[in-house]
Amino acid sequence: MSEALDEFMAQCRTRCDTGLQIYGGFGGELRQVAGLAGLETAIDYALETSGKRIRPCLLYAAGQAVGADSQLARAFDHLACALELIHTYSLIHDDLPAMDDDDLRRGRPTLHKAFDEATAILVGDGLQARAFELIADAPGLSAVQKVAMLKVLASSAGLGGMVGGQFVDIAGTGRALQLDELQDMHALKTGALIRAALSLGAIAAGASASQQEALEVYGEHIGLAFQVVDDILDVEGSTATLGKTGGKDALANKTTYVSLLGLAGARETAEHLLDGALEALEHFGEPADMLRELARFVVSREN
Ligand code: IPE
Ligand code: IPE
Ligand code: MG
Ligand code: MG
Ligand code: MG
Repeated sequence: MSEALDEFMAQCRTRCDTGLQIYGGFGGELRQVAGLAGLETAIDYALETSGKRIRPCLLYAAGQAVGADSQLARAFDHLACALELIHTYSLIHDDLPAMDDDDLRRGRPTLHKAFDEATAILVGDGLQARAFELIADAPGLSAVQKVAMLKVLASSAGLGGMVGGQFVDIAGTGRALQLDELQDMHALKTGALIRAALSLGAIAAGASASQQEALEVYGEHIGLAFQVVDDILDVEGSTATLGKTGGKDALANKTTYVSLLGLAGARETAEHLLDGALEALEHFGEPADMLRELARFVVSREN
């Protein structure tokens, strides 16, 4: 990883983590409501372990590529937190016994292990709703921009996005999927939210139609590549490096890029997707350098 990317990602993580402390949980008056203390403790548990924050990084980098006004920094922080809240909720539910049944996440017991299943379901539901609230409250954006963003986030998180992809994943477990089915599933369950990160950045920064289109194509490639690499890491990575149990996909009899194409084939697919992502940025010039570096990171990451 280059020094510039390292520094950029650290800054994004700090902004997102600080934002989550301020806006992530109850935020003020609800803390006083009797009976909610246990829920608050569980929400803190979910938000205090930092993941890679790749979706916020992509959002901020999209803003940079389009030349977002520096006055929009707080709005971008709201959007970064909204993306991370949806993502964190998706992981909490993904780990539940009825889904992937995982005990370890980000190096610690999963939420339903540390608390209980009902709490994990409710924390996930609560974080999801909070994400939309944060967009509605984002300072410095017009009502038209906010409605457009709410729609992007709702459709990418929902039935035609992450939730739909998760359904196909669970329903397809134990049955061999064809490559095109697998690609469609990955594009939904993981790609959709990554594409949303780019779209939110583009809308907030006032991107032109052609810039939005190019970022969409970049997002399609990098979103799919992200899950292809997740499949590879499930086979190659150690539990210690991943912070989640390795080897789970084969154990659960899931179709993955590795099960269909082998490790070398899956790597080749990821590299092709990287080429497509970089090509989509052709007309952007230097301001899109962080997006280029992030694309390389997505494909070469080790966790
Ligand atoms: C893991 O996501 C689940 C997928 C969608 C592939 P990340 O790899 O972004 O997880 P964190 O946020 O860094 O823990
Ligand atoms: C999860 O995919 C995608 C989500 C929408 C959360 P995985 O089930 O492969 O993610 P990990 O490997 O558990 O992080
Ligand atoms: Mg899963
Ligand atoms: Mg899983
Ligand atoms: Mg996985």
